[in-house]
Amino acid sequence: MTRRTRVALKVGVWAGGLAPLLLLGYRAWTDDLGANPISVITNTLGDWTLRILLASLAMTPFRIVFGLSWPIALRRLLGLFAFAYVCLHFSVWIVLDFFFDWPRMGADIVKRPYITLGMLALLSLIPLAATSTTGMIRRLGARTWTRLHRLAYVAAVCAVLHYLWLAKVGVTDPYWYAGALLVLLGIRVVDWSRRVIRRRAAAVAASSAPLRS
Ligand code: HEM
Repeated sequence: MTRRTRVALKVGVWAGGLAPLLLLGYRAWTDDLGANPISVITNTLGDWTLRILLASLAMTPFRIVFGLSWPIALRRLLGLFAFAYVCLHFSVWIVLDFFFDWPRMGADIVKRPYITLGMLALLSLIPLAATSTTGMIRRLGARTWTRLHRLAYVAAVCAVLHYLWLAKVGVTDPYWYAGALLVLLGIRVVDWSRRVIRRRAAAVAASSAPLRS
């Protein structure tokens, strides 16, 4: 991939990542958020957090299935956008829903399972955002860093459960997100099993080579 293509792709992600926020800002500015603006803001930010999180998780399966390497260059930026959106989503809950009433917030986290799951998803994303720099990858080592970044799947599972739990009866969107996550996880599991089988076969071949010669 040329440098120009990489820059163009990143500009595309920046534009796509900022567009929902700008649109939401525009709707708020023009008083177009309906009868329950807090709910519209919370839900829009939650929806985009989940979409961008799943998009960031789709990059590796995309490479596995189609053999393309360019999606990997976008993974970190998409992950950071997901983190930025969840911070805004969480801030709305802190400021507009509870207005910094910490004891009530603590009680809400314990009382409502979908809030507990949302918190778990957010907490899983914090170490990922904190270690997203090239310096941190070098400091942790690629192996530890890759292992740590599997937390993204924990975050996605908690996030999908958060949505499934809070959705009203008849709302089908969370099931589509759950299906997408299962497909992504399935591709990773199949790829991992194939690599394990290949590695074992290579080890068996290597150990029996001296016997043959
Ligand atoms: C990665 C983390 C998270 C993701 C992906 C996420 C995603 C979502 C989604 C998709 C919705 C529903 C949107 C809709 O109905 O269209 C939602 C709603 C909501 N989320 Fe989150 N969320 C996350 C974390 C959190 C956290 C940490 C909190 C608060 C502690 C929170 C509080 C809420 C609330 C209060 C609602 C609205 C529920 C309602 O309409 O009754 N979320 N979130």
